[in-house]
Amino acid sequence: MAKDKTIYTCTECGGTNPKWLGKCPHCGAWNTLIESVAESQSPVKNRFASLAKPSEVATLADIEATDMARTPTGHEELDRVLGGGIVEGGVVLIGGDPGIGKSTLLLQALDSLQRGFDASLSTVGPPQGAKAPSGGSDPHGVGKRGGTLYVTGEESGAQVALRSRRLGLDGSQVKVLAEIQLEKILATLEATRPAVAVIDSIQTVYSEQLTSAPGSVAQVRECAAHLTRAAKASGVCIILVGHVTKEGALAGPRVLEHMVDTVLYFEGDTHSSFRLVRAIKNRFGAVNEIGVFAMTEKGLKGVSNPSAIFLSQHSEPVPGSCVMVTLEGTRPLLVEIQALVDSGGPSPRRLSVGLDRDRLAMLLAVLHRHAGIACMDQDVFVNAVGGVRISEPAADLAVMLAITSSLRGKPLPKGFIAFGEVGLAGEVRPAPRGQERLKEAAKLGFSVAVVPKANAPKKPIEGLTIHAIERVEQAIEVVRSLA
Ligand SMILES: Nc1ncnc2c1ncn2[C@@H]1O[C@H](COP(=O)(O)OP(=O)(O)OP(=O)(O)O)[C@@H](O)[C@H]1O
Ligand SMILES: [Mg+2]
Repeated sequence: MAKDKTIYTCTECGGTNPKWLGKCPHCGAWNTLIESVAESQSPVKNRFASLAKPSEVATLADIEATDMARTPTGHEELDRVLGGGIVEGGVVLIGGDPGIGKSTLLLQALDSLQRGFDASLSTVGPPQGAKAPSGGSDPHGVGKRGGTLYVTGEESGAQVALRSRRLGLDGSQVKVLAEIQLEKILATLEATRPAVAVIDSIQTVYSEQLTSAPGSVAQVRECAAHLTRAAKASGVCIILVGHVTKEGALAGPRVLEHMVDTVLYFEGDTHSSFRLVRAIKNRFGAVNEIGVFAMTEKGLKGVSNPSAIFLSQHSEPVPGSCVMVTLEGTRPLLVEIQALVDSGGPSPRRLSVGLDRDRLAMLLAVLHRHAGIACMDQDVFVNAVGGVRISEPAADLAVMLAITSSLRGKPLPKGFIAFGEVGLAGEVRPAPRGQERLKEAAKLGFSVAVVPKANAPKKPIEGLTIHAIERVEQAIEVVRSLA
């Protein structure tokens, strides 16, 4: 037998190299090459390639474009991020920190799908408890296939059963398979032909064909590829649970994200009860949609009106706190930004939670240069309340005002909100869909807003005094005059 050849595989991109290198030659990531055994290549792979018959090519106009049949999961917030429900043959990857509630949510979703399928067998109609989204829903879609399957590789069947009892899913008809070997999972999928299958998690699955350990790049990539192929060929919707690395990225090769149709990401603070599910990629719907859940004794419950959950409850305004309106997907969310500016040592720290740290450094520089407010010798900490992550630049103005407020020890006025992107020249640029943001703030009882000029509404919004500004120094001036 030929000696096993050693190769080095990048944990980021899955690229291989015969020698160890500090930097991956494929994706440029540092220190990501790990030793693995080269898988034997099929010798027939390319030899007959030229003898293969060419495949038929069709003109785009001749291909029938059938609309995707979607089956709602019965959890409105999950359906929102999925773009209306699960799709036949679709592959969804859901990632998130340990213990955030991935297994819980998927078990709940499978149970309500199963109840829907059972109900539609007796009476033809949409799944029970599921609201049909406008357009695209088809009761004869995925539901026609048989039932659900929960493949657990991390927990035993008994543990899953225990969780289902705790969640109040008594008498659940969800089928459970405790298995980690890919070939057996594929055979079970073939034999039972479920409509939806959850693989919890892809890192525990291994294929007999490969020698590397479960969870290794080669295994994860290969198993995901096989499962994706099975989903496309048989029409089963497969939901893969993925682990995340310490840095918060989905563990396993980057290619996993390219392979699947939808990538969902669970975020939130495990210490608070709110969880966000964000669509990072979706071939069947809009991205940047978020679903908001609350973790309760009975599992995850959708929060249909989440706009006020990321505000902390101060009875009176406190220094260093500024509320902003962020627009995630289609819904505006009010988020409190907190800042603490405190005298630092010789090398002051800049720390941010839920916001970009580089952006914080940039904002401090703009604040110094254009508004004359220096934090050079100060530690600066900023935090988005409730474990929410804000990536949009519209948070800039709120961050800046929170920092100024903390530095001066003066609270912002009661019922105050601000949003707007800050540029390096000190200008404040408008945020998309400003009117919607302002209306949501007014609805929740906010009364004073500092916004970019282009976002100021033509017609006044009842109960909201709006100060339109163009530059950072103007914003600071307005706030000073209000105090
Ligand atoms: N008895 C309980 N009562 C209330 N909540 C509980 C109880 N047991 C667990 N939980 C909640 O469920 C969460 C665990 O959820 P779950 O097992 O779905 O997470 P996960 O994302 O699948 O984690 P992992 O990555 O470890 O598989 C816990 O963090 C906790 O908040
Ligand atoms: Mg789990």
